[in-house]
Amino acid sequence: MKSELYEASKEFKAAERPRRLRRLRSMRLLLQETRLSSSDMMYPIFVDRRISKPEEVESMPGIYRLPLSDLEGEISTVTDLRIPAVLVFGLPGHKDAIGSEAFETDGIVQQAVRAIKKLAPELVVATDVCLCQYTDHGHCGVIRGGTVANDETLGILSRVAVSHAEAGADIVGPSAMMDGQVKAIREALDEGGFADTSIMSYSAKYASAFYGPFREAAESTPLWGDRRTYQMDPPNRREALQEIAIDIKEGADIVMVKPAMSYLDIISSARAEFNAPLAAYNVSGEYAMIKAAGRNGWLNDKLVALEVLTAIKRAGANIIITYFAKEAATWLRED
Ligand code: PBG
Repeated sequence: MKSELYEASKEFKAAERPRRLRRLRSMRLLLQETRLSSSDMMYPIFVDRRISKPEEVESMPGIYRLPLSDLEGEISTVTDLRIPAVLVFGLPGHKDAIGSEAFETDGIVQQAVRAIKKLAPELVVATDVCLCQYTDHGHCGVIRGGTVANDETLGILSRVAVSHAEAGADIVGPSAMMDGQVKAIREALDEGGFADTSIMSYSAKYASAFYGPFREAAESTPLWGDRRTYQMDPPNRREALQEIAIDIKEGADIVMVKPAMSYLDIISSARAEFNAPLAAYNVSGEYAMIKAAGRNGWLNDKLVALEVLTAIKRAGANIIITYFAKEAATWLRED
């Protein structure tokens, strides 16, 4: 309830002239309601067991799959730019039906996490907990009778999460969209003595066509079918809130909406509804579009990227997972 004085104060205005406050750049800066900073961002990193030199992802200019030996340079760039967190994805040496390289003690992600924590103990290391890069069929769980078997997959995801925690991950990020995955992983972590390892759940993860370039980067396109029987249907908003509520109840420390750009309404609703820290994933297709148009001279990719990232924060995200993190941090520093 606004006070009577407040109501009265409005009457004294000769005219509404909001442009007064936009005249000076410094005035605009002073009045900014949302301030984007490198500390909002988490940078995804792809480590590839099979290569010895960095390989650029064709549809994601500036993003590379790295061998372990190149992590040192990458991590020092990230920390120099004051980006507080990375999200590690792995490409295994071989794939099989259950994605067993995903939970090997010396798997690529486990090795990368150990290396990163040694190089930069203060950097937050998050990992993606999923099977699609590791299965020969490219789905996010084990297949039974032509479909992804939910409950059987939970045990494998828990093993993956525990192996990441053992390697030193600060946050594990289940992204397989299996029902009950947060609960199963929380229990497994606690039993394994990893009560301090956080869970960032990809709670509202939509079956989106914006993941295309990632699947090229991670070689995780499903051999048959699609992910619509486990990832969310893009038209649905209330269902996203339901997914997030379930994950918080199951023990998620951080919840996520993914993708971000076309889902700002979901981010905004989630922020209004829950107090949990909220991450938003500015996904590969969102990055690729802006990069491609920028390269064609069709738009200014720097300004568009900063506008998009600011919008994601304005919508309510606390953590923005973005391939722009390094560039954006550099741009923000120059400004
Ligand atoms: C793994 C996973 C995917 C992404 C993050 N984790 C791909 C998918 O679900 O198909 C997409 C990230 C991006 O597009 O940037 N399941």
